[in-house]
Amino acid sequence: MSIQTAFEEATETYQVPRLIRLAPNLYGACFTLMKMIPARFILRRAEAQGLLPPHTVIVETTSGTFGLALAMQGVHMNRRVVLVSDPVIDERLYRRLTDLGAVVDRVPAAAGAVPGGYQAARLRRLAEVRTEHESTFCPEQYSNPDNPRSYATVAELFLECLGQIDCVVGPVGSGGSMCGTVGNLRTVLPECRAIGVDTHGSVLFGHADGHRELRGLGMSLMPANLDHRVFDQVHWCSASAAYAATRQLHRRHALFMGPSGGAAYLAARWSAAANPNALTVVMLPDEGYRYQDTVYDDNWLRGAGHLDQPLASEPVRVSDPTRPSGSWTCFDWGRRSYAEVMAGVAGVAGAAGAAGAREAR
Ligand SMILES: Cc1ncc(COP(=O)(O)O)c(C=O)c1O
Repeated sequence: MSIQTAFEEATETYQVPRLIRLAPNLYGACFTLMKMIPARFILRRAEAQGLLPPHTVIVETTSGTFGLALAMQGVHMNRRVVLVSDPVIDERLYRRLTDLGAVVDRVPAAAGAVPGGYQAARLRRLAEVRTEHESTFCPEQYSNPDNPRSYATVAELFLECLGQIDCVVGPVGSGGSMCGTVGNLRTVLPECRAIGVDTHGSVLFGHADGHRELRGLGMSLMPANLDHRVFDQVHWCSASAAYAATRQLHRRHALFMGPSGGAAYLAARWSAAANPNALTVVMLPDEGYRYQDTVYDDNWLRGAGHLDQPLASEPVRVSDPTRPSGSWTCFDWGRRSYAEVMAGVAGVAGAAGAAGAREAR
C-alpha cells in the first residue's frame, strides 16, 4: 500500500464523528480531528479546480488543529505545507506538525501585545510567506465558503443516525462547523436550534478583544465565515469552567476530548436538561492528547489557579453581550445579525474591536 493510500484511509476516518449518548436526549459527536473535514474538502476542490499544481506550497495561518489536518493532507497530496503560527502553539502540536514535514513559522512574542494580537501578526506574516514562494495556495479557513460547505456531510450523518435533531451546541472559532452543520440541517429541520460557545475576550459575539486562555474557540478578529444569524443562543465559558467540564466528560462518560468540546458539553448538558423533550447534539472537535500536560494534569491546573474552582450548574443570563460577567454566561442571540444585536444593547464598547476588523453582518 502506498503512503498516499494509507493516509487517505486514515484521514477519512478522522472526519467521521462517533455519536455517543451522554443523556437520554443528548448525544456527543466525538471527532478525532474535526478540522479534517474542511481541510480535505477545500484542498480537494482546489485540486479539482487546477489551483494546486505539483510545485504549489500550501500556506495557512493557524495555531490549532486546522494546521494538523493540512499537514496530513500535505503528505497525502505530496505538497509542501507552511503554517504561520505564534509562540503560544503547544509543543505537542508543534512536534506533530514538524514530524509530518510541515514548516512552522512562528511570529515573535512581542506581536501578541499589539492590537489584533497574534492573529493580526500571523496574517501579516502569511502575506510575506506568500511572496517568498512562486506558487502558493491558502485555504483561508476564516473566509473560504468551502469551510462551512464542507460540513454538509456532518448534517447528513446526524440526520441519518438520529433523525429528529432539535438543537446543536458547539464551540465557535472560524464559525465553519456550527454555521455549516446547522445551515445544512435547517434545510430539513428549520426549527433546529443552534447554541454557540465562545470565551471571554473573544470578539465573535461582542466582547472586546482580550487575553484568552481557552484555546480552540474564540477569536481576536471577526471571521467572514461566522454567520451570526444562525445562532439562537450564545454562551461564554471561562477556561476554569471549560477545563472542569472537560474532566467531567472524561470521568462520567470516558470521553477523552479537548477543552473546546468541554466548554460545549457544559452548555449542552444544561440545555438538554432544561429541554427534556428536545434532542441535542454537542460537537466535540478534538481528542485530549494535546492537553494531557495541562487540562488533564491536576498539578498544572492547580498552578494556573483552575483547580477546585466551583463549577456553576447553570449560566448567568446577560442582557448585554458586550459586558463579560462571571465564568459562564449566556445571551439569547435570537438568530439576529451582529449589527442588529449591537443596535439593541446600550453599551457597544465591546463591539469596537470587531467592527474594526470587518463590516459585521
Ligand atoms: C479544537 C477546536 N475546537 C473548535 C474549533 C472551532 O471550530 P470552527 O473553526 O469550525 O468554528 C476549532 C477551530 O479551530 C478547534 O481547533
